[in-house]
Amino acid sequence: MKQIIIQFGGTGDLFKKKLLPAYMHLAAKGYDFSIITLGRRFSTREEFIAHLPQQPDQEFLKRLEYVQYDMKDPASLERVSSKAQQLVGDECEVEFIYYIALQPSLYEAAIRQIEQINTHMHCTVSKKIIVEKPFGFDLDTATAYNTILTSVFTDEEIYRIDHYLGKEFMQNLLIMRFHNDIIRGIWNNHFIDHIQIIFDEDLGVEERLGFYEQIGVVRDTVQNHILQVITHLTMSEPSAFTPEEISHEKLRVLRAIKPVKDFTLSRYRSLAELQGDSIRTPTYTSFKLFVDTFEFSGVPIYVRTGKMQSEGRSQIYVNFKNTMGRVLNNSRIAQNSVIITTHPEMNIDITLNMKMPNTRWETQPVRFNFNHAETFGINTPEAYEQIVEKILRSDKSLFPSMSEIQEAWRIVTPTLQGNVVETYDDHTLPASAVRLLEEDGRVWNA
Ligand SMILES: NC(=O)c1ccc[n+]([C@@H]2O[C@H](COP(=O)([O-])OP(=O)(O)OC[C@H]3O[C@@H](n4cnc5c(N)ncnc54)[C@H](OP(=O)(O)O)[C@@H]3O)[C@@H](O)[C@H]2O)c1
Repeated sequence: MKQIIIQFGGTGDLFKKKLLPAYMHLAAKGYDFSIITLGRRFSTREEFIAHLPQQPDQEFLKRLEYVQYDMKDPASLERVSSKAQQLVGDECEVEFIYYIALQPSLYEAAIRQIEQINTHMHCTVSKKIIVEKPFGFDLDTATAYNTILTSVFTDEEIYRIDHYLGKEFMQNLLIMRFHNDIIRGIWNNHFIDHIQIIFDEDLGVEERLGFYEQIGVVRDTVQNHILQVITHLTMSEPSAFTPEEISHEKLRVLRAIKPVKDFTLSRYRSLAELQGDSIRTPTYTSFKLFVDTFEFSGVPIYVRTGKMQSEGRSQIYVNFKNTMGRVLNNSRIAQNSVIITTHPEMNIDITLNMKMPNTRWETQPVRFNFNHAETFGINTPEAYEQIVEKILRSDKSLFPSMSEIQEAWRIVTPTLQGNVVETYDDHTLPASAVRLLEEDGRVWNA
């Protein structure tokens, strides 16, 4: 079967940075597909190719087409249809994969246009649609988009992307938790004191301001990536590692989280300086939530994430209760932690107290480390390569279901309606994020 990817937003940032390398790797692995990239800014294929950040080899270029396409121009659609007809040629079985990498406000128009692309061919045609995150602006728009999508595609044909699910560490979280008896035994509210999730970026919004201004930090990372991380940290063991069973357990977690009330929103100073005070888009948030399941109720999960921080880091600290430190009233006995670092590189550390040499029973926390690259080499496929490979193979294991997406919007709803309370200096942690933990007598681990 021939697969033809119709790439909306083919001149955008996502295509250049993530999708193009993924397509090139998958082509080199032997997958047989062609791509029709769509964009407004280049008038010819030559111009489009000349502006690619990396020049593909001749073999790959044979499968890469470009059509100048503006949604507002009906003639564009005819160009897309005729290019599609041309690529189908004599094939008798074809699959069209519509990949929507556009800002969410254009989704609806794009779906309406897809309906009009002429794919009535002599051959057997199947179809899929890929929709980027964030899926909607809020619960209502997500539900409305889904109604539009399902009027044209079956749920089986819809792939809603959260590329975090393609990251090796997310899949590894499940293996670490469920294939290790010592971890399994302590991964609950009997032993865990609290969890900290720290996803800081050192960069600002940069040239993506136009896009980010409509989105803000909650829609950019919390509603999707961070809530997915929380499901992987707290879900019960699925009866099998199948998409359906994993999704079932994730949904149980999401349904057990109340809408977030304890949150702060802030914005870095130079954003306003460059653009004037009218921009109120939050670039940083910190919040606390609870997963009210039997295994996790009572364990606070603190999250902080956003832009323009001193260091780019993605870390999860699972901090355990420090019973011995309390019993012995000894502050030198540190709490044990499992530290999962995904950026700048993937590490899992377990901290244990060990005796310091030449002392009388003095202890020091020591890190036991697993470094993914050292153990398995550095050739792990990027998240987008894993995601696109699953799409080509019609494997839905790395895609959130619509029910998960709706639950995630429900959880973040209050934060979408909240106001920015603080302007923080560039590369500085907002004071409101520090206070969030101080109020509970805790400090951030990093
Ligand atoms: N960038 C990332 O790293 C990243 C990561 C994860 C997810 N995503 C998601 O991917 C999606 C796209 O993001 P992006 O960063 O690639 O955005 P972007 O750089 O702003 O690109 C937007 C694309 O939309 C096209 N476009 C805009 N208006 C159009 C119209 N009226 N008709 C036809 N095409 C139009 C643009 O074409 P022209 O510029 O040629 O006009 C461009 O190709 C978003 O949903 C985002 O959340 C992005």
